Parts: sequence; C-alpha cells; structure tokens
Amino acid sequence: MTRIPFAVMISGRGSNMIALLRAAEDEDFPGLPVLVLSNKPDAGGLLAARAHGVPSLCIDHRVFKKDREAFEREVDAALRAAGAEFVALAGFMRVLTPWFVHRWAGRLINIHPSLLPKYKGLDTHARAIEAGDAEAGCTVHYVNEGVDEGTIIDQARVPILPGDTPETLAARILPREHELYPQALKQALMQMPVR
Ligand code: GRF
Repeated sequence: MTRIPFAVMISGRGSNMIALLRAAEDEDFPGLPVLVLSNKPDAGGLLAARAHGVPSLCIDHRVFKKDREAFEREVDAALRAAGAEFVALAGFMRVLTPWFVHRWAGRLINIHPSLLPKYKGLDTHARAIEAGDAEAGCTVHYVNEGVDEGTIIDQARVPILPGDTPETLAARILPREHELYPQALKQALMQMPVR
C-alpha cells in the first residue's frame, strides 16, 4: 500500500496531533506523517512530535506582521518541501486565506470541538452549555473559505450533564476527538482526489 504523506499543523499542546501520529504508527494506516508545523515557537506539540520522531518546524506568524499570505506562502513551501500531500489542522489557531485553502482544496481538514454547524469559532463548550443543549461533541470537516464551514466528514457526540462547566465538558469531548480524528483522517485520505 502506498501511504500518503501528510502534515499536521498545530498551535498548542497538540494532543490531537499525537493521536494522529499514534494512529499512523500502524503500517496499515493510509497516511505517513512527514511534518508537524506550528505557528507558535512555544507550542508543546513541537516537542511531542520530536519525541515521536516526526520532523517538526515552527514558522512564527508574527514575523510576517499583518501579511497573512506571506506567512502562508512560507507554510506552503515548507509543506511541499516536506513532501506533504495532505494537511490536518489540529488546534491550529490561525484563519487561513482563500489562497491557501484553494491550494489545498480537498486535501485540508480540521477538527472542531462542537457539533457543527452549531458553534463555529471559539468558546464552543460554554456556548453549548449556555444554550441548554442536551449534547455536544466534535466534528472533523474539510476546510473551505469559511471558518468551520466545510463539508463534514464525521462527528462524535457526548451528553451534556447537569453541573457541567466548559472545562468538564471539554474534558469529556477531548478523548472522543482523539478517537474521531484518526478515523476521519483515514477516511479522507482514502477519498483524496487523484492529483
Ligand atoms: C481541540 O479541542 C480541537 O478540537 C480544537 O482545539 C483543541 C486543540 O487541542 N480545534 P490539542 O492541541 O489537539 O490538544
């Protein structure tokens, strides 16, 4: 089986990234991680990637000031230099421009901690609790020009329990993210458009 080289983009602790790298340790997994890229030098996930033996790189977006495309051109060049053919965003906290999204169309996915289309953007756990929802969850979706708006690949659900806080709810959802993301990445890789 030919394994598709993929990259993971992070901004923080990278627990979802680790779940993807662990899944890819199975040689039957259809993807092979070739790069973990962070826009933040202090992202804990960079060290974790190194511990897994996957090349890691930081491209600090602050260097590019307000020029988002200049930042993304550098990211795009690094992804291509690493041989990546697919990108999974995992807690990557920068909105990507249409230029980047079009370049990676059909080959760029993200995980979001809500049952999309509900609660795009930030503070998803607090918003689900405040709305009185009976359940919450997480979604893996393709990335398009909108924020958290692309075609949904898969979702996982958890109950919202009496007395939940954003923290307790996030702690219930996160392990489900770690199960869902590798499965959804596998599915997306197997459906990847031929280039
Ligand atoms: C996760 O909840 C993910 O859904 C969201 O940001 C968080 C990142 O966590 N996009 P981690 O860095 O993967 O631990």
